[in-house]
Amino acid sequence: MPKMRAAQIARPGWPFEIVERPIPQPDADWVRIRVQACGICHSDSLVKEGHWPGLQYPRIPGHEAVGVVDAVGAGVSQWKPGQRAGVGWHGGHCGHCDACRSGNFFGCPVALQITGISFDGGYADYMVAPAIALALVPEDLSAVEAAPLMCAGITTYNALRNSHARPGDVVAVLGLGGLGHLGVQYAAKMGFKTVGIARGSDKEPLARKLGAHHYIDSQAQDPAAELLKLGGAKVILATVTNGDAMSAVQGGLGINGTLVVIGAAESLQVSPLVLISGRRSVKGWYSGTAIDSQDTLKFSVLAGVRSMNEVFPLEKVAEAYERMMSGKARFRVVLTTGQ
Ligand SMILES: NC(=O)c1ccc[n+]([C@@H]2O[C@H](COP(=O)([O-])OP(=O)(O)OC[C@H]3O[C@@H](n4cnc5c(N)ncnc54)[C@H](OP(=O)(O)O)[C@@H]3O)[C@@H](O)[C@H]2O)c1
Ligand SMILES: [Zn+2]
Repeated sequence: MPKMRAAQIARPGWPFEIVERPIPQPDADWVRIRVQACGICHSDSLVKEGHWPGLQYPRIPGHEAVGVVDAVGAGVSQWKPGQRAGVGWHGGHCGHCDACRSGNFFGCPVALQITGISFDGGYADYMVAPAIALALVPEDLSAVEAAPLMCAGITTYNALRNSHARPGDVVAVLGLGGLGHLGVQYAAKMGFKTVGIARGSDKEPLARKLGAHHYIDSQAQDPAAELLKLGGAKVILATVTNGDAMSAVQGGLGINGTLVVIGAAESLQVSPLVLISGRRSVKGWYSGTAIDSQDTLKFSVLAGVRSMNEVFPLEKVAEAYERMMSGKARFRVVLTTGQ
C-alpha cells in the first residue's frame, strides 16, 4: 500500500511526530487532495493541546490546505483529478436537511464536520475531504498564497462582508496575527476607515503598509478612547486570543457598533451599560463554507490581498508551530510538502 508522510498528534498535549501512513482512499462523495501547502492556524492548538471535546487521537491537524485533486470517490461529479482545490475549517454538511436548506449549514445535524478535527487535515502529503467542503483555487494564487486564505482569510473577509459596516465607516481590527493582518487588508480594500490595534509599536509600519489608516498601540494608549476620538467604531473585529484585550475595546464602539468576536478567547467581560447606552452588540463569527472560500480567493485576487507568510517544510512542523504560538511570526506560518 503506498505511503505518505503526515504530522500527527498522538495524544492531547503530545509533540508533533512525522509518521508514515497509508495514502487514504476517498469514500463515496469524498475527494483526495495531494497537499502542496497548509497554513498553521492558532485554532490548531485545540488539536495539539486536546481542547476540543471528544476529539479522537491520533489526529493530523490542518484546515488551511491547498493542493491538487488526486482521486475522487464514487458519486463525485463536480471534481476531477488535476483541479486545484483548498479545504478550510468547515469540513462539510449534508446539503439536504432543513438546516442546510435554510442556509444554516453550521447547524447541519446530519454531516457537519470540521477539517483537521472530525477527520485528518492538511499537515500531510495527502488528505481526503467531503467534496462539498472543497473550494476551487484560482491560477493567480500559488498554493502557499492560497492556503492562509482558507481560514484566516475567509474568516475575516466573511465577517466583514456580512457586517453592517459601510464604506467610510470606522472598522477596527484588534490583533495583528495571522487573521488580523488579513482583516486589516480586507477592511481597507472594502473601503472602511481602517484601524489596526496591536500590542507595541513595532507592528505600526506593517499595519500601515497593509492599508490601516490609523494604528493604536494598545500598550501605550487606551484603545477605546482612541476609537472614540475617531467617532467610534461601527465594527471591531476581535481576532486576539485574549479576552481582556477584547473587553478593553468595547467602549470604543460607536452608536449601533458591534464587537465581532473571532478569536477563541476563554472569556470576555461585557458591560450592559455600554451595550444599552449605544445599542451596541457583541456577536461571534465562524469562518464560512466552500463558496465563501471561493469568494475570498476571488476577492483577494481582485483587490491584491495577500497573506504575509513564513514557509517551513512539513518535517519542520514542530518549529513552525512554535513560531506561530510565539506570536513572532510575520504573519502566517505555512507548511509545504514539496509536491
Ligand atoms: N472564529 C473563527 O472562525 C476563527 C477562525 C480562525 C481562527 N480563530 C481564532 O482566532 C484567533 C487568532 O488566530 P490566529 O491564527 O490569527 O492567531 P495568531 O496568528 O497566533 O495571532 C494571535 C493574536 O492574538 C493576540 N494576542 C495573543 N496574546 C495576547 C494577549 N495576551 N493580549 C492581547 N492580544 C494577544 C496577538 O496580538 P498582537 O497582534 O497584539 O501581538 C495576535 O494578534 C485564535 O483564537 C484562533 O483560534 C477563529
Ligand atoms: Zn483556522
